[in-house]
Amino acid sequence: MAVPASRSTVRALRALQKCTQQTVRVAPRARYIPQHVRAFTLSTRRHEDHSEPGHDVKYTTDLYPEIKRDPKFSELTQEHVDFFKKTLSDESAVIDGLSKDATDDIEPFNRDWMKKFRGRTKIVLKPKNAEEVSKILKYCNDNMLAVVPQGGNSGLVGGSVPVFDEVVINLTRMNKIRGFDDVSGILVADAGVIMEVADNYLKEHGHVYPLDLGAKGSAQIGGNVAANAGGLRFLRYGSLHGNVLGLEVVLPDGTIVDDLSKLRKNNTGYDLKQLFIGAEGTIGIITGVSLQTPQRAKAVNVAYFGLESYEKVQKAFKEAKMRLGEILSAFELMDAESQKFVHNKTQMKRPLEGEYPFYCLVETSGSNGEHDNEKLEAFLEHVMGEEIVTDGVVAQDDTQIAELWSWREGITEAIGHNGGTYKYDLSIPIKDLYQLVEDTRERLNSKNLIGDNKTALGVVGFGHMGDANLHLNIPVRQYDKEVEEALEPWVYEWIQKRNGSISAEHGLGIVKKKYIGYSKSPVMIELMKQIKQLYDPKGIMMPYKYI
Ligand code: FAD
Ligand code: MLT
Ligand code: ZN
Repeated sequence: MAVPASRSTVRALRALQKCTQQTVRVAPRARYIPQHVRAFTLSTRRHEDHSEPGHDVKYTTDLYPEIKRDPKFSELTQEHVDFFKKTLSDESAVIDGLSKDATDDIEPFNRDWMKKFRGRTKIVLKPKNAEEVSKILKYCNDNMLAVVPQGGNSGLVGGSVPVFDEVVINLTRMNKIRGFDDVSGILVADAGVIMEVADNYLKEHGHVYPLDLGAKGSAQIGGNVAANAGGLRFLRYGSLHGNVLGLEVVLPDGTIVDDLSKLRKNNTGYDLKQLFIGAEGTIGIITGVSLQTPQRAKAVNVAYFGLESYEKVQKAFKEAKMRLGEILSAFELMDAESQKFVHNKTQMKRPLEGEYPFYCLVETSGSNGEHDNEKLEAFLEHVMGEEIVTDGVVAQDDTQIAELWSWREGITEAIGHNGGTYKYDLSIPIKDLYQLVEDTRERLNSKNLIGDNKTALGVVGFGHMGDANLHLNIPVRQYDKEVEEALEPWVYEWIQKRNGSISAEHGLGIVKKKYIGYSKSPVMIELMKQIKQLYDPKGIMMPYKYI
């Protein structure tokens, strides 16, 4: 679209050229991008974090002494351990901390990624197939042993680790791709397949895993489904409630439910698999997933902008939807504070010369590079010409795409490495989205809780603008009751007043169990309890969490 070459348009486009020239080779402007270039591998980082001094993790029960162990559960005995060892044929499938000191081996399964929760399990089981999961669960159910299913342990609500001595059933060894149909794009895989592994496999077949997130190097397909994860491609490919076609699930009593349908359409009664999507392991263990995967885009472009106000961010998003239409694949929001944390942590050169209160990352994915590029340029000219966007850069090659994404995907780690982060993950109408960050800043400042030598290092806002999903994060030097009490339930009340969701994508886990009433009515909570009772009458799955 032709845009009058106003003085500001020229100034803005020059800025674009100048920035890109710093690093650019002459390169095609839109091309096929291997997705792995922007993946983090968390397994390594997790171990690094634990060795940092001052970053040791308190036991959950020390942080929250009000949570009491339910005496209805049995304590692990040698007889139980012997049964598990006999049932799981491979010796490495049982990490046994009862018969011997296995502290170092067991510790990574007891601690969560946020360094906030730490359980005291003495046993980790790693079954290889649904039959083994079935035998273990039946035994736990018969013997009243509490259970925590665990995938890549990248969850952000403390759901994936035990609170007390629950048995951890880790799906890592269930790691086989069972089949792929390249006509329909339907993938069937074990629940323990890592997202990145699935995506690399799909790449070879011209398809793409319909979900992308910073933890893709360790999060598993089953964990994605159990958490109903959202992530960076939600805007384009939608929810797992739509993309999951079938599940294989083991119920707490050991029953294997084979609903591994490969059909897109199937109106034969209640769609039971939907209950397990987002159930966070409370009613059964997912062992297999059948998933609709889209065709992989041949041309991907990424642009990064600076904007002067949240109002302009909203305008830019509206224009992106209008002008980029079907090729828009991500529209992410980052505030100045979030980018400062990434900069301080990584010391990377900032993509733009100036500093702005807000930044957006826009990604397009399509099948015709030239066409996509024309659209992107028209969009850029428009938003700069109208002074919606003040400055911006467009990545010119794969490396620059990865670099720009790292300013967004690196936020979680950059803010988390100081000691801890209070995380809130909400959805409210888009116009009010950022107001919460400002109100929180004001609240913590008024209570003198932020700053040098204070517990909180700042208040950070970022998230999936395209899905009206904000991540409000308060990085802290250490987890602290005074900060927590200043934030909770105040943040949840703030969200409730706007009829929002207190968890847009991370789930409930242990963190939000007691706050569910801020987003669900008493009638709905009662129905949820009835479902839990129906599937897990003895309550062995995920006690102390979810509901
Ligand atoms: P885990 O953390 O191991 O488990 C998550 C929950 O599911 C737990 O309650 C667990 O008990 C249960 N569970 C796991 N596997 C199974 C199974 N097979 N059957 C039944 N229950 C099971 N989340 C988002 O939604 N969007 C994001 O953009 C996003 N980005 C992230 C970025 C970073 C850097 C990190 C650390 C996390 C991010 N997350 C995000 C959160 C997390 O990665 C996702 O929720 C992910 O889907 C969890 O997968 P996992 O295999 O690690 O599951
Ligand atoms: C993200 O969007 O980066 C994730 O949900 C992780 C987070 O909230 O920290
Ligand atoms: Zn997110």
